[in-house]
Amino acid sequence: MSISQFTETSARLRCITCGSKPASAAQDFRCTSCGDLLEFVFPEWSHDPPALKALWVHRKTLLKPLDQSGVWRFRELLPDIPEEHVITLGEGNTPLYELPRCARIVGLDTLQAKHQGMNPTASFKDTGMTLAASSAHQQGFRWVACASTGNTSASMAAYAARGDMRSLVLIPEGKISWGKLSQSLDYGALTCQLRTDFDGCVRILNELVRQKPVYLLNSVNPYRIEGQKTAAIELMEQLEWQPPDHIIVPGGNLGNSSAIGKALLEMRELKLISRLPRLSIIQAQGANPFYRSVREFGGTKLEPVTADTQATAIRIGNPASWKKALRVLRATGGEVEQVTELEIAEAKAEIGADGIGCEPASAVTLAGLKKLLKRGFVKQGETVILILTGHLLKDPDFTIKFHRGDLFPGTPDESQSAQIGPLQRAPVVLDADLAAVIAALDAAESRNS
Ligand code: F0G
Repeated sequence: MSISQFTETSARLRCITCGSKPASAAQDFRCTSCGDLLEFVFPEWSHDPPALKALWVHRKTLLKPLDQSGVWRFRELLPDIPEEHVITLGEGNTPLYELPRCARIVGLDTLQAKHQGMNPTASFKDTGMTLAASSAHQQGFRWVACASTGNTSASMAAYAARGDMRSLVLIPEGKISWGKLSQSLDYGALTCQLRTDFDGCVRILNELVRQKPVYLLNSVNPYRIEGQKTAAIELMEQLEWQPPDHIIVPGGNLGNSSAIGKALLEMRELKLISRLPRLSIIQAQGANPFYRSVREFGGTKLEPVTADTQATAIRIGNPASWKKALRVLRATGGEVEQVTELEIAEAKAEIGADGIGCEPASAVTLAGLKKLLKRGFVKQGETVILILTGHLLKDPDFTIKFHRGDLFPGTPDESQSAQIGPLQRAPVVLDADLAAVIAALDAAESRNS
């Protein structure tokens, strides 16, 4: 088999609502007929599943950056971008970890997490950004831009820098973590902290791209979704193409759940997998418009909310991709859940105690799994994969406050102390004295026994 055998994919854009097929996208990536989102479709796909699987594994042994990337390795299922325009940082190829302690806590035999925080800028955004930034490069844009809760902006700034483009970041002032802000500064973005929330930043950006020749890199850009699909493809490869019963993802702007769901549906259509996992989406209770849409309105409408959660990555009240997410939720038979701030903090520390760690938004997956188990939606003996979206070090403030007991204002009540107290490990300040360190060690040992 020749290596270049599968590279033509003939992708077309299509509106998710009216079905019109524009030859190219408008600046805001909305359908010019009905205003809804666009997606890529691949009408001429005809692949031989075993040959594709073998080709993708074979590429891991090749040295070309395109083959080493955990995104471009799967390029048969992506829109074409000429190689000279591809901007890659070696994204994807993220580990699938066992979480034995978490499995014991929730009462499952096994539990696994695909850690998308192990990408080059430490979040899942890199998988979509490599494609969308490459498309900006192909089209000759000088400026790219996004509104962000921090991870998209970090990723965009890095890929823009690598592709010799300028980047404009709009972030809500005071509402993103320092780790993420520091990334976009270091990667050279023009970083504007707007006195509004994420949804306010999106509104301004949508106006801006209509007036200025700036390429929009939010997840309404369908290239982002295509790149993010590869997390699910790679996951199935890691599972030797045996789908799990459940995949659980956090929901913010709902691009990621849409992407993973799209990949699952396409893989089944192509007979790469024989059945669909259920894809469930978890939101923070303080930022739950999609949960409410499904539970209260049967998915007929989405009422924006004023979002508030310490999981700042998903502090989003008006998610752009809710219709795409609803479609994959329904097609895979998944569920929605919402989780409280305390449940998020507890789950994050539990994932940390497994030696993996993640940022708060990722921990909603474990907190949500507990609820799905309690409701009987996830059953004993079923296989579950959590998608961890961001690295622990993205938001060290949250973690330090949690362990010091400063995350929640006021004096903790008894149930709160019982829930999170055993997980808190505040640093111990001691004199530089061997006896004091030995006493601390002995005390820790006796607490654990
Ligand atoms: N987890 C993390 C760590 C995120 O950064 C985000 C979104 C999500 C989950 C939710 O994914 O929006 O596709 O549903 N962060 C965006 C940003 C919005 O600007 O970085 P989603």
